[in-house]
Amino acid sequence: MDALTDFATVGSAYSAHSVSARGRLRHDLVARRLLAELPTAHARVLDVGCGDGEMTLRLAAAGHRVTGVDPSAEMLGAAARRVGARPDLAPRIRLLEAGIDGLPFGRERFDAVCCHGVLMYLDDAAGAIARLAGLVARGGVLSILTKNRAAIGFREALRGEYREARDLMEHGAAASVGNLGLETRGDTAEALDELTAGHGFAPLPWQGVRIFHDHHVDWAPGPEEYAQALQTEWAASTRDPYRQLGRLVHTLARRGTERRRTP
Ligand SMILES: C[S@@+](CC[C@H](N)C(=O)[O-])C[C@H]1O[C@@H](n2cnc3c(N)ncnc32)[C@H](O)[C@@H]1O
Repeated sequence: MDALTDFATVGSAYSAHSVSARGRLRHDLVARRLLAELPTAHARVLDVGCGDGEMTLRLAAAGHRVTGVDPSAEMLGAAARRVGARPDLAPRIRLLEAGIDGLPFGRERFDAVCCHGVLMYLDDAAGAIARLAGLVARGGVLSILTKNRAAIGFREALRGEYREARDLMEHGAAASVGNLGLETRGDTAEALDELTAGHGFAPLPWQGVRIFHDHHVDWAPGPEEYAQALQTEWAASTRDPYRQLGRLVHTLARRGTERRRTP
């Protein structure tokens, strides 16, 4: 289940995207939802594919103890520099170099495991979800953010790239070119929910992320416009039909509190 590419080559492009208004919109929407679902005020959270540490830092700032893992030494280095600049949060953060196939946790379990912006770079979702699900403590949450397969072609159509949009839609494409110029794979929320349910989790309502602003490449709103945009995206993010057109899907599922019986 290797990444589709060596992420080190696009790491700095990702960091630039992450701090753009479009990047911030997704972090704000996802963090708000995830924080609301954490089972305790001081949760043990695992952030798999933590990149430059944006969600790791946000979760630690909210009082949680966070382990960020990433297989890219470059991305982890960027995360470590950001953590180093926050001595108030650093004691609650642990960073480890590892990929989803080699998570070094033995019997350790977490109140929440998040894996955001990673599954689209992997060949399939099922193996990743199996590994992540196994690390969630009873009553804990699994949070997955990935490209929305159901909306592939929507961005292209809104940008006026009509031929490409039609081609993606008419062929029911499972992959398209993403923000970093790489072809990335999509999953539907329903398929992700089915996978987590297969591991004994109860799916929570899913979010569509970046519905109305995904195609605005150079979007640079002032603070008031950004706040209005964020509230509008938030309102749409859990409502049909809007959420179905989000560029990304954010699915959450809670592990039951009962020990599972082996058949
Ligand atoms: C688009 S970034 C997302 C970073 C961060 N999670 C976020 O949402 O801002 C994708 C990250 O996935 C990491 N990654 C790639 N393959 C991975 C794998 N097999 N296991 C875990 N992380 C992986 C990359 O190194 C990169 O840091």
